[in-house]
Amino acid sequence: MKIERKIILSNAVNLGLILLIGVFALQNLNRVLTKLRFVEIADDLNASFLEMRLSEKNYILFHDEATLTDMQAQISRTRQTIDSARQDIVRAVGEDNLSMLIGQIEKYSNTIHDVQASGGQDVALKLRLRMHGKELKEFSESLVRIERARVNDIIASSKRVLFYSFWVLFLLAILVSHFISQRILLSLRAIERLTRSIAEGKFHRIEGPVDDDEVGSVTTAINSMSDELKSREEELIQSKKLASLGILTAGVAHELTNPLNNISMIAQNYLELYDNLDREKRLEFMQQVDDETKRIGEIVRNLLDFSRPKDADLQSADINETIRKALQIMQNSLHLANIDSKLSLDPLPPVRFDVHQILQVLVNLILNATQAMQPGGTLSITTTVAKDGKTVRIYVRDTGSGIPPEFIPHIFDPFFSTKGVGGTGLGLSVSYGIIKNHGGAIRAESTVGRGTTFIIELPVYGKEET
Ligand SMILES: Nc1ncnc2c1ncn2[C@@H]1O[C@H](COP(=O)(O)OP(=O)(O)OP(=O)(O)O)[C@@H](O)[C@H]1O
Ligand SMILES: [Mg+2]
Repeated sequence: MKIERKIILSNAVNLGLILLIGVFALQNLNRVLTKLRFVEIADDLNASFLEMRLSEKNYILFHDEATLTDMQAQISRTRQTIDSARQDIVRAVGEDNLSMLIGQIEKYSNTIHDVQASGGQDVALKLRLRMHGKELKEFSESLVRIERARVNDIIASSKRVLFYSFWVLFLLAILVSHFISQRILLSLRAIERLTRSIAEGKFHRIEGPVDDDEVGSVTTAINSMSDELKSREEELIQSKKLASLGILTAGVAHELTNPLNNISMIAQNYLELYDNLDREKRLEFMQQVDDETKRIGEIVRNLLDFSRPKDADLQSADINETIRKALQIMQNSLHLANIDSKLSLDPLPPVRFDVHQILQVLVNLILNATQAMQPGGTLSITTTVAKDGKTVRIYVRDTGSGIPPEFIPHIFDPFFSTKGVGGTGLGLSVSYGIIKNHGGAIRAESTVGRGTTFIIELPVYGKEET
């Protein structure tokens, strides 16, 4: 069910409950009003009964016949009052109580009549008169007492019902809003987790049943977005692969054309000049052919390294030691180029790596740095452990020419080189493949005119991301 419908339904239930409580309160109020009206009438009746009893007392003391006539007149006034308020009285005390009251008045009236007929001489009759008068007054007083007590009961029970229903409504409202907000919150958290993992390049889906409500629609939309992104990424990778293949082919053609042209030219010269060449010259020509062939061999070897990186022979070794070794290999080149070198190596946790391959990467980076610097430049190599303790970082920094920002995205592409014949453009792409193979990462930060820093990250042994 849609969340909007759930909210409307819960509001309707709450409204229904409020209406029920309202009807109940209204009914009780009506009952209280009826009873109070009766109590008012009964107070009037009690006042007339009291007067009757005073007249009764006067008659017994002074034997004045006129008092009996007054009493009858009062009784008939009382009957009129009862008749006019009959419906109210029935509603308040019921038909039975009213008949009993009328019966009592009847008895009293008959006894007054009997006393009048006897001329006031019969003592027993007088006693009966007193008894009936007393009974009548007590009965009407007890009716008033009972009704007052009932009014109190109704008010007390109304208070109780209103109190409890307020809490029931309150708790119901809290429960419903908690349930709905919890439903939205849980889904929002799942969506947040998914978008984070999408940002990290992991295109998962939100698992579990999808409800038929607004949150369910959002979940479905996010899931299909994730699927779409995944297939787009696959397409992108595919088209990137094709683009790299294009670059690669063009690069191979370009790189091989030069030495092949050279060989062809040497061969033509050799054929033309063959008869005039002495032994030494012939050997020189053949040496040139051999050099060019070696160059082709070197290009092909690098290409093979790039296209089929050999499986890394991972061993737990000291990265700092490998850096010192790389620097030692390059010492002569650095010295010739008049480049100063600085090392700042932190103690590192264990890393498993292929010493020869990492050495190859370091030599590539140091060579590039040397080529980018003027005499007097400084090469510094630093190692640290990342704050989370999961990766080791190697910084290879130079004070060279720097890389223009528009070149940065291409430096790891195969055959990207700004060095003309001096470079094949495979050094960094081979290095990139090696570092990726180790589960690490390599990137460059550079400012033109100030220098470049290459940063290599390698996973610490036992803390690799799965
Ligand atoms: N430290 C650096 N400073 C400035 N530019 C650099 C640096 N390192 C690399 N580059 C740029 O990146 C390009 C690619 O480098 P890469 O090592 O892949 O090829 P290369 O050095 O040109 O040729 P080779 O295959 O001989 O290494 C270089 O031509 C250069 O323009
Ligand atoms: Mg290079």
